[in-house]
Amino acid sequence: MDLFRNSNSGEGLMPIRQSKTVINLASQSLDWVMGNNIRQALSLNDAVELTDVAKLHVPDKPIETLYIHIPFCHTLCRFCSFHKVKFDETLARQYFSALRKEIREVIAKGYRFNRVYIGGGTTTILEDELIGLIELIKSLTQIREVSTESDPIYFKEGNPHLLKGLVDRISVGVQSFDDNILKASGRFEKFGSSLQQAEYVSRAIDVIPTVNLDLMYGFNVQTPESVTKDIEQAIRLAPEQITTYPLTIGIGKNRKKAGKLSGKNEDLWPQFLAAKQAMGDKYVMEFPWTYSRNSGQSNDNKYVLDGEDCFGVGSGAFGRYGEQFRISSFDIPHYIERINKGLSGTCYTKPLSQQSLLQHHLLMMMGHGLLDNQQFKAHTGKSLWQAFPIELAYLRTIGAIQKQGDNYTTTTVGQFIALKMFSGFLAGMDYLRDQARELPTAQLSNAHLAQDFCLQSKAI
Ligand SMILES: C[S@@+](CC[C@H](N)C(=O)[O-])C[C@H]1O[C@@H](n2cnc3c(N)ncnc32)[C@H](O)[C@@H]1O
Ligand code: SF4
Repeated sequence: MDLFRNSNSGEGLMPIRQSKTVINLASQSLDWVMGNNIRQALSLNDAVELTDVAKLHVPDKPIETLYIHIPFCHTLCRFCSFHKVKFDETLARQYFSALRKEIREVIAKGYRFNRVYIGGGTTTILEDELIGLIELIKSLTQIREVSTESDPIYFKEGNPHLLKGLVDRISVGVQSFDDNILKASGRFEKFGSSLQQAEYVSRAIDVIPTVNLDLMYGFNVQTPESVTKDIEQAIRLAPEQITTYPLTIGIGKNRKKAGKLSGKNEDLWPQFLAAKQAMGDKYVMEFPWTYSRNSGQSNDNKYVLDGEDCFGVGSGAFGRYGEQFRISSFDIPHYIERINKGLSGTCYTKPLSQQSLLQHHLLMMMGHGLLDNQQFKAHTGKSLWQAFPIELAYLRTIGAIQKQGDNYTTTTVGQFIALKMFSGFLAGMDYLRDQARELPTAQLSNAHLAQDFCLQSKAI
């Protein structure tokens, strides 16, 4: 079997060596361009301290996602650059109490959401608090879906049946079913062997309506064969979704630590192909990093350009809606103090350039496999070629997209480029987190208190 040949019909076949060389060059130049773009577009040098939340516009239609961050873990994994600290129960309980207060205030202010995503850290670290939080939200407002994340050991040590009726979707982070990889990344001791973790995933599937299984590739101990085995094991468990994250080493402080675990840049393409191939027809690619179980029915989940708005609450949460990034305090005691004094958790905003918003659309359209000219024009007022003259020329030259009428569809190479863009996006989030940790924590003066919305909105 020739893994290096494009497999989709109509894409043409590239000889192995040429294909590998083209992909490596394309992916190296993309890394370079993205690294520079991220430093420019996501620099927090122009972040503005938020002193008057009342001036912020509350949208009249619901924001797509309320993102809630739980920044505690029992032990910290070497590759992970998400915002988290070692668990301290007293601090964590104070934190959940502050979260509830912030959510009440946000809803009282008039914000509404279609769905809730609770991410971490370890969201299930205090099960009673997590349950209380979801119950509170459901008592205050209508929500279509609640998603959360979990490590696998929760399904051994916790009481997942208590989440029934509260959580619609859970992402269980396994990363790999290879004990060597679990050991190298420090997860074997924490979450058990691959066999044990498979058992925990089965328990999750018994209780939660939709289970997503997180796997990763790009570790230096991984090969296309080991990725294939991981996917085969995941498929045997039959979760509704499988996400395959490319290990992202970021461009900031985490780079050195995560970099020690990372394989070579050129190893990612064969591992991506191995993952895609192993999914076979059992799972359908939603994005090059997310697959859904093939139900046999075609699902028209067209990518909606304005369906990505997100409001973040909790320490270390980001939000983005309209043309603005909102950043919450990364200092947990400072976050709790702000909330207890009646301030919002968001303490900085950053304007986003039109160009970086367009770049994000390009990533999502590439990921979805369709660059729909009409839809893009209706949303942005520009045609694809007006918005992305250099990018489209590059994508066509390397064979990443092919023309279909007025639109473009992605080839297998294009799917891989989208995966690299996604990895660049994750690196950008790392870079934001690095900078956000360094932002000065404002002194909580009376002037701040008088101006903040929490005092102006009625508590419910
Ligand atoms: C932030 S974790 C939270 C889940 C849970 N705490 C766990 O460890 O299972 C969510 C997912 O992010 C992914 N992730 C973490 N660090 C990553 C990195 N450096 N590159 C790519 N994906 C990463 C992992 O697949 C993980 O399951
Ligand atoms: S991967 Fe999960 S358990 Fe590990 S440090 Fe990150 S959030 Fe915590």
